[in-house]
Amino acid sequence: MFHPLRVSGIERLTDDSVAVTLAVPPDLHETFRHRPGQHLNVRYTVDGQEIRRSYSICAPATEQPAAPALRVGIRLVDGGAFSTYALKELVVGDAIEAMPPMGRFVLTPRPGQFAAVVGGSGITPVLSIASTLLAREPDASFCLIRSDRTAASTMFLDEVADLKDRYPDRFQLVTALSREEQQAGLPSGRLDRERLTALLPALLPVAETDGWFLCGPLGLVRGAELALHGLGVDRSRIHQEIFHVEDGPDAPAGPRIETPAAGTLTATLDGRSGKWPVQDGESLLETVLRSRADAPYACKGGVCGTCRAFLVSGEVRMDRNFALEPEETDAGYVLACQSHPVTGEVELDFDR
Ligand code: FES
Repeated sequence: MFHPLRVSGIERLTDDSVAVTLAVPPDLHETFRHRPGQHLNVRYTVDGQEIRRSYSICAPATEQPAAPALRVGIRLVDGGAFSTYALKELVVGDAIEAMPPMGRFVLTPRPGQFAAVVGGSGITPVLSIASTLLAREPDASFCLIRSDRTAASTMFLDEVADLKDRYPDRFQLVTALSREEQQAGLPSGRLDRERLTALLPALLPVAETDGWFLCGPLGLVRGAELALHGLGVDRSRIHQEIFHVEDGPDAPAGPRIETPAAGTLTATLDGRSGKWPVQDGESLLETVLRSRADAPYACKGGVCGTCRAFLVSGEVRMDRNFALEPEETDAGYVLACQSHPVTGEVELDFDR
């Protein structure tokens, strides 16, 4: 469910990015309290068309009685309707419609060594994860490996420098700039699998690190994941969130199974069930949306995970999945925006 929230602050981070802070009225404090690493889904209507986007929350998570800290990082995307609006038109006092924070790319503070490999705006959720962890858990350390094009295009430079000043013994930072000369001792160029395989063991005990958080463009996240697998890191310790996906050989397609010409979908949403015919070629999310405008979604591209639903019965084919962990698909979860029926009857539960 969307709630209108007032913009209480806008700060320019770089030429092409801003941090937007939203004020939460007291009666919604618990609804909008985030876990470190979660994102907000926002919507905006332009020329009669509704646009939805997900933006990660960069602020540390708060606890009662403090108000929730909803500050999101937004980078301008070429042709991106919401990011263009946020950077060029949005002013303090405007209202933005937002859903309560969601997402499973989270770290609940606990003792241990944690690390992240991030690229570009992938720093946003990791900033919340690292700052919350270091503030709340004195026996935790965090190593951040970040990659950007240039220092001028790097988001949250001050906030990350502040972590270094505040926790000199528990926060380690390595920055790789792909389009700029580096200072001595730091890696230059893109952080790919080979570079990370050489770099990570020099920084920390890789296999004993309690949790790895990978966030950014698909290529960086996949490279880091392969490097970690090669270095013996167990899959259960790797968490990932992909920010940009380009169609190409890296984009995993589901097996091409013929979809039956006619199928029927039964879906439960907010405790209410309905049964509808699936029209040729449409995703199960589209089937639901024709009758239930409240069906959850944001990206419609298999990236954000907002449309996750439990497959109660039947079989589906997903076009692509960049959001669900293998444990979730093994447990029976699917992305409705990417799912097409394989069996004539399919049942989804969005409430589980
Ligand atoms: S709406 Fe984003 S993954 Fe389906």
